[in-house]
Amino acid sequence: MDGRGAEAAPGQTAVAAAEPMKSRFAAELAPEERVTTAFLVKQKEVRQKKSGEPYLSLVLADRSGELDAKMWDNVEAVQDTFERDDFVKVQGTVVLFRERPQLQVHRLRRLEEAEITLADYLPATTENVAEMFAEVRGYAAAVADAPLRALLLAILDDPEIGPRFQRAPAAKTLHHAFFGGLLQHVRSLCRAARMIAPNYPEVNPDLLIAGIVLHDLGKIGELSYVRSFAYTSEGQLLGHMTLALEILHRHLARMPEFPRRLQVVLEHLILSHHGHYEFGSPKLPMFPEALLLHALDDLDSKMQAMAEQYGREQSLPGDWTGMNYSLGRPVLRLDRWLAAPDPVAPWTLTPPGPPEDLAHKAARLQAALREGKK
Ligand SMILES: [Fe+2]
Ligand SMILES: [Fe+2]
Repeated sequence: MDGRGAEAAPGQTAVAAAEPMKSRFAAELAPEERVTTAFLVKQKEVRQKKSGEPYLSLVLADRSGELDAKMWDNVEAVQDTFERDDFVKVQGTVVLFRERPQLQVHRLRRLEEAEITLADYLPATTENVAEMFAEVRGYAAAVADAPLRALLLAILDDPEIGPRFQRAPAAKTLHHAFFGGLLQHVRSLCRAARMIAPNYPEVNPDLLIAGIVLHDLGKIGELSYVRSFAYTSEGQLLGHMTLALEILHRHLARMPEFPRRLQVVLEHLILSHHGHYEFGSPKLPMFPEALLLHALDDLDSKMQAMAEQYGREQSLPGDWTGMNYSLGRPVLRLDRWLAAPDPVAPWTLTPPGPPEDLAHKAARLQAALREGKK
């Protein structure tokens, strides 16, 4: 990466192996529970009660998720002792507020970095990273086209790229926002491609695999991950498609024999993979492999967003999850909804009114519509 982009979290290799120090995690907390545990402060606001006294409105986080928190009393003593992105130890009680758990904080103390295990606060894939990487490398090694295969393997085996590719999240918040998330996303796409490509004889599976391996590679420089996942300034300014092109070009510079037209095809796969101008692609997918790459990428990120929403809210009651901001909708917990008995037989839900009532209702609706158009 030429020293560009992502900074690795200190002690990153220890992420999976470190002994967790936290006893309770945000996603496990149940209403009424009294808890003493540590969190990363993601948001901190000092607000005013009606009485004029301050209270704290916080968003606390650990690797399992986020939790709203409020501290109502003794705020003056602690409000200046910590900031956003600090670690704090809190003692409090979990309450339900608008059907979401909220922590009422009674005591709070800032923690030194030496007191925490970073792996407790940044989420990581539960899959085996080495196995996932070997599987993706295997798909690249199986590419029949020799120059393309050589390029993909050179990129994956590049010591500046391979380790970062295995560590990077695929997104800041929307989907696969955890260590190893990018690799997990790419492996999922490779598997999907192997299944679906034979259904479309016009699709060259080698190009599809190449597009999958390359498309989000710029994320190793777009996102930083020291305390929380954030965009690097370069990522913010250039975006992961431009950064992926840069990686591609750096490797192609060492392969003067690489076919020029194949290079352009790879560039198009990277640039068009978001599929729409308004999602940052400067070009729309213009051949079948590019269209399929976009469709699979879109599908995989949305399926993962739904799975993550279920995971985050597994301990909450109800048939519906909260709003999923990447999908712009809540998600139905289909298993719960289907398992519940029908409260009323559907045919008795809305007894039809007498015909004159319906005519009346229709007239009223039409009048309301006319009113609305004015
Ligand atoms: Fe992307
Ligand atoms: Fe992607």
